[in-house]
Amino acid sequence: MIRSVVTGTGSALPVRRVSNAELAQEVDTSDEWIVERTGIRFRHIAGPDETTATLATDACKAALAAAGVLAVDIDLIVLATATPDQTFPSSATKVQAALGIPDCVAFDVAAVCSGFLYAVQVADAMLKTGLHAKALVIGAETFSRILDWEDRATCVLFGDGAGALVLEARESADNVASPDARGILATRLHADGRHNDMLYVDGGPSTTGTVGKLRMKGREVFRHAVVNLAAVMQEVLDLAGLESHQVDWVVPHQANARILDATARKLGLPPEKVVVTVDQHANTSAASVPLALDTAVRDGRIKRGDLLVLEAMGGGFTWGAAVLRY
Ligand code: COA
Repeated sequence: MIRSVVTGTGSALPVRRVSNAELAQEVDTSDEWIVERTGIRFRHIAGPDETTATLATDACKAALAAAGVLAVDIDLIVLATATPDQTFPSSATKVQAALGIPDCVAFDVAAVCSGFLYAVQVADAMLKTGLHAKALVIGAETFSRILDWEDRATCVLFGDGAGALVLEARESADNVASPDARGILATRLHADGRHNDMLYVDGGPSTTGTVGKLRMKGREVFRHAVVNLAAVMQEVLDLAGLESHQVDWVVPHQANARILDATARKLGLPPEKVVVTVDQHANTSAASVPLALDTAVRDGRIKRGDLLVLEAMGGGFTWGAAVLRY
């Protein structure tokens, strides 16, 4: 059967790296508070010339090189972001132009921190229909531009960055337990808009006419995240016909080390199987899963043939998970 196989990963971070101690010079906070509550130690913050599209383009170049695929052979770009360069055109078309791809399908998806999981399911479906053969699936954000730097309860939590995958339609074994069953084995998405007011931006083109700033009820988000993420991971494993003990790596949305621990515990997964990069990157929203995946591929933790579960939850609420054999 045809499945969408990850043939390359890439990521990009802004040059400027800010420690908790540096942040504490501007914001009424401390390294101790941030580390204890979140596990975050550093975040990268975009400079004036670094944007969602430039970071995404750099991540794509790295992913294309890893896959050995030429940019001109890409026929689909799906870019997940809540912080596009402009309201329109889409950041996906900016990446297309920067990569010199004369013609392809290119669009953004918006599902905030779970945007990358949404982008993966959309691209996977489009590849499996046979309409497309080679896709770039991207999560890219510059949340530093929508943070209220006076609000210490949120501004310490986020960072900027981008991650990308090359997904290619390839022949793959039917039996998911077989090592030859490469690619995306199952995906599952959810949304529950009754929780719009838990995590949102207080502006937008159709309301205030301004960009707005991020607002969050942190405790409520935390509580929903643990319940929803553990449930959707179990759902996606059930859909694939696999069990949690078969998973080699969980690549979670990197929001908070305590959410990662609590979610893994609920599924009975040992912490050694969870890829953690939140300490280095903070929460990069839609970028966090592909950024963590690329980090773990490049440092040798994730190897070809490993069974991965990706998961994320974000504003909306939206949440989702995917199982794939890398
Ligand atoms: N530095 C120091 N103190 C801070 C602070 C900071 N950066 N931010 C908040 N505080 C203070 C608060 O003012 C409060 O003080 P008070 O008790 O004197 O009023 C105290 O710390 C506790 O605040 P609270 O918001 O209740 O903390 P918490 O234990 O819920 O932790 C979060 C806050 C944000 C770390 C936690 O709720 C969380 O991780 N939520 C999930 C957020 C998330 O992951 N969102 C993205 C999902 S995509």
